Amino acid sequence: MPDNDPLLTPLTLGAIEVPNRVFMAPLTRSRATDPDGLATPLMTTYYSQRATAGLIISEATNISEIARGYAWTPGIYSAEQVASWQPVTAAVHAAGGRIFCQLWHTGRVSHESLHPGSPPVSSSSLECEQCQAFIRVGDRGQRAAATPPRALSAVEIAATIEDYAAAAVNAITAGFDGVEVHGANGYLLQQFISPNVNNRDDRYGGSTANRARLLLEVVDAVAAEVGGGRVGVRISPVFGFSGIADPDPGPVHRYIAAALSDRAIAFLHLADTGTMAPGAQPRMDEILALMQGTFGGPVVLNGGYDVERARRDIARGEASAIAFGRAFLANPDLPARLAAGYPLNPPDPRTFYGGAETGYTDYPSWS
Ligand SMILES: Cc1cc2nc3c(=O)[nH]c(=O)nc-3n(C[C@H](O)[C@H](O)[C@H](O)COP(=O)(O)O)c2cc1C
Repeated sequence: MPDNDPLLTPLTLGAIEVPNRVFMAPLTRSRATDPDGLATPLMTTYYSQRATAGLIISEATNISEIARGYAWTPGIYSAEQVASWQPVTAAVHAAGGRIFCQLWHTGRVSHESLHPGSPPVSSSSLECEQCQAFIRVGDRGQRAAATPPRALSAVEIAATIEDYAAAAVNAITAGFDGVEVHGANGYLLQQFISPNVNNRDDRYGGSTANRARLLLEVVDAVAAEVGGGRVGVRISPVFGFSGIADPDPGPVHRYIAAALSDRAIAFLHLADTGTMAPGAQPRMDEILALMQGTFGGPVVLNGGYDVERARRDIARGEASAIAFGRAFLANPDLPARLAAGYPLNPPDPRTFYGGAETGYTDYPSWS
């Protein structure tokens, strides 16, 4: 272990202090109850096993019923869901950890069976031919082509912002230390950001400022409820899946970062999620060049990191912390392993989504 390991240096993130810079990236594991979206005792075990993370960012968590795009994912909009998360956050805290709730609206990456009575909603009614939802058929799950969406009206946008704010209040009631607004990976907020999906001609479409407006209004509404120091924001500026094809993502993402700088949020999380595709090359250098240092606060970087790159980017001041996805999923004691140079358990993609203990709570710690 090097002296003064940058990974193990404490950090202030808005309203919270974290003891190290090895964060757990948000990871959907599809082990909540369905369709009521309750957190389960198995999830309590899973998250508390990973409490040595500087910060755990929870799996994406639905802010409303219409937000759902995948069966067996948890929610944070009903009283029962709030109660179901309380043992999870209490166990993480008892084990010395901190956990933010990732607030999720899938938008058009969804299927009508997940919210009977309405098709999915988005910035526009443009269909996403490559988008797949995950639906329940009897007791089994299966992929399904996303149902064509309808465009949210202005009144419905205001209600959606209220859903985010209510979900943030619920998250704090459930014991989370803060929330991360999910503005990445082609879901609702990126469907407003990206001009190939957003063809609106009202104040939520067209110009850079208009396409950034929904994300910023969500952040403002959430921060008004829980305090900006408990709000992180995740964006994926070069994401090219789920029908997102922004020919010029720089201006809108720089505009968002500069606007978030002014709001003094806890952190900006830049995700290179494309690294999940087999054989993909990391594009973080491209993301950092595109962002041009427009965010002044703590920056969390994610996507394809190993320990050397993590130390390098923190030492260079590019990152305040690194979020690890697959490595954390497979190594509950990841900070200690990275610091000591111990070998890592390999993640098993067959058990990423759904199932029970296997590939979830049975990855061994080094000791
Ligand atoms: C099983 C799995 C589930 C994921 N779920 C989410 C999620 O709920 N929210 C999110 O923003 N990203 C999600 N991601 C993306 C990860 O947060 C991360 O960006 C990606 O795994 C790349 O980081 P890594 O190379 O450290 O794994 C998921 C990735 C995987 C492998």
